[in-house]
Amino acid sequence: MRDAFYITTPIYYVNARPHLGHAYTTIVADVARRFNAMQQKQTYFLTGTDEHGDKIVRAAKKENLSPRAYVDQISRLYQELWPELKISNDQFIRTTDAAHMAVVEQILQKIYDNGDIYFSEYEGLYCFGCERFYTERELVDGKCPDHQTEPEKIKESNYFFKMSRYQQWLIDHINTNPDFIRPERYRNEVLAFLREPLEDLCISRPKSRLKWGISLPFDNNYVTYVWFDALINYLSALGWPDDEKYQKFWPAVQHVVAKDILKPHGIYWPIMLKAAGIPIYNHLNVHGYWNVDDSKMSKSIGNVVDPLNMKNVFGLDAFRFFLMRDMVFGLDSSFNQQALVQRTNADLANDLGNLLSRVITMTHKYFDGVVPQVGDRVEEEFSLGLEQEALNAISMFEKEMANFVFHKALMAVWEFIGKMNKYIDVTTPWELAKQKNTRKQLEAVIYNLLEGLRVISGLIYPVMPDTAQKMQKHLGLEPDDTFYLLGHLRNWKQLAPGTKLPKSISLFPRIDPEKLAMPKAQAPAKGPKTPFKPEITLEDFSKVDLRVGTVLKAEAVPRAKKLLKLEVDVGEIRTIVAGISNSYAPDELVGKQVIVVANLKPAKLMGVLSKGMLLAAVDDQGHHIATLDKPPARQGTILS
Ligand code: MSP
Repeated sequence: MRDAFYITTPIYYVNARPHLGHAYTTIVADVARRFNAMQQKQTYFLTGTDEHGDKIVRAAKKENLSPRAYVDQISRLYQELWPELKISNDQFIRTTDAAHMAVVEQILQKIYDNGDIYFSEYEGLYCFGCERFYTERELVDGKCPDHQTEPEKIKESNYFFKMSRYQQWLIDHINTNPDFIRPERYRNEVLAFLREPLEDLCISRPKSRLKWGISLPFDNNYVTYVWFDALINYLSALGWPDDEKYQKFWPAVQHVVAKDILKPHGIYWPIMLKAAGIPIYNHLNVHGYWNVDDSKMSKSIGNVVDPLNMKNVFGLDAFRFFLMRDMVFGLDSSFNQQALVQRTNADLANDLGNLLSRVITMTHKYFDGVVPQVGDRVEEEFSLGLEQEALNAISMFEKEMANFVFHKALMAVWEFIGKMNKYIDVTTPWELAKQKNTRKQLEAVIYNLLEGLRVISGLIYPVMPDTAQKMQKHLGLEPDDTFYLLGHLRNWKQLAPGTKLPKSISLFPRIDPEKLAMPKAQAPAKGPKTPFKPEITLEDFSKVDLRVGTVLKAEAVPRAKKLLKLEVDVGEIRTIVAGISNSYAPDELVGKQVIVVANLKPAKLMGVLSKGMLLAAVDDQGHHIATLDKPPARQGTILS
């Protein structure tokens, strides 16, 4: 029986559109799947969307949609994106699928029956953004490390999962399976966490607070905590417990996640499996975060990278290659378009593209585009160890890919590309072509080069499937699914002499960084009346100290037509004069949270010293004060 390989991505929350980060993880999983298929394993690839919980209900409300309509809409965006990025998933799971929900109920019941779930009252610090309780120890300066907000103290009766019972078992499991969590830094992070006593996990939410979820099978007044629901997708997708797929692919599973969700995957999930009596997954592969131009990707900064845009501007394979080549799996990386252009021009247009076009052009020039015959004796004389170099590249590639060290796997391929170029320089086919008596040598050299290209076309297949196929066609191979099998790649002399090759094309045209055809932003139907100001850098922008403040008092400034004098708490009390009395009565403002430019040079207006300025939009209808989407926030909170 062929070995089984099951790969998963996180199931993405449907409260945001897919971006670079989601695309990266899913491309990693796709590359790993394709690589394992090269090793002739039987593969299964799962991705999907995580659709329950408070976060989703709030996002739906904001869009004025029912949760059901909302999740359908965003989940579709993911389902439509993946084929565009050549993601070869076998299944797309949604946690609102009836089959998934049934499995969650079964597993909950199983763990409950085993005595690992108990009912208790709990008072704790709850972060609404994360939908979970935090311990004091986990907070940074009293705030949720992800949302930078102070969690609220709430008291509830809930169901708890006895994780503490399995703490020592998990430590032992990690110690006896050193690559259970990889790279090592994340394994160490989990072990460090396990040095402190594990708290039991609250796995329910009362329906009085949240209805959008899976009811607990043993208490209909509660829904399941969204992480307990979501993690089970990895099993429900296979039709646990009886389906053939489950029998075949579990536990040969490799999860791929980023560091943000290490804890649920590295701690909750193995313990859940253990408590349910299900074998533990094989590996958890954890990668770092993509920042953009060295800043965190965020909607508010406006630097969120849309993967479809990247595909349209740079081409899919260049985009996929850049992601896999530039990020060291496990570490953070910075995305920027200049780096992408440089990589494409140097590695793809120059190294790979030129090599292909050079060799195909010579085949046309010296052999009318026909793969030459090779004789044994001269061939040896002129092989100069190229076949061995190819085998070395394949072995190195295989080792690094298997360990998720993608950048090194690609480096091994590019080292071989370098060896191919050197082979041309040393054998000088153009000199061999000048003399009649070196015809046999010329045949051997061109044949070897074509073989080398065949190996390269196979090795790039997982990362650049389209380019691999294009190269294959240029080598006169019929498109078929076996050309990339590692077993075939290891056998030299697969190309059939006499095959006529198509004329060379350019695989990757060079991109002129000056002429980057970035898609123009869609102009709104009614554009802004005032033209946009000149560009500034993030550094310029960070000089502006924007703070959240609450208006404590407001009164008209005597004799002034439009001015109101406000007292605003921005962590300290400031007097601010604002020209908004045509649009706001003083009473309307008291208690409102506003956004204050806190480091504006103080100025006297009608005799009152104003220390700051409120942000407001002004149009034909007057002023509209900028405020917070979700007040209250702490006074003095910095906006970024
Ligand atoms: N729904 C949970 C996962 C449940 S899995 C049982 C969730 N969803 S998410 O939409 O927030 O996705 C988080 C994942 O998206 C990260 O773990 C990572 O795979 C990917 N990324 C999101 N932003 C990212 C970056 N900036 N960089 C790299 N990957 C990131 O958490």
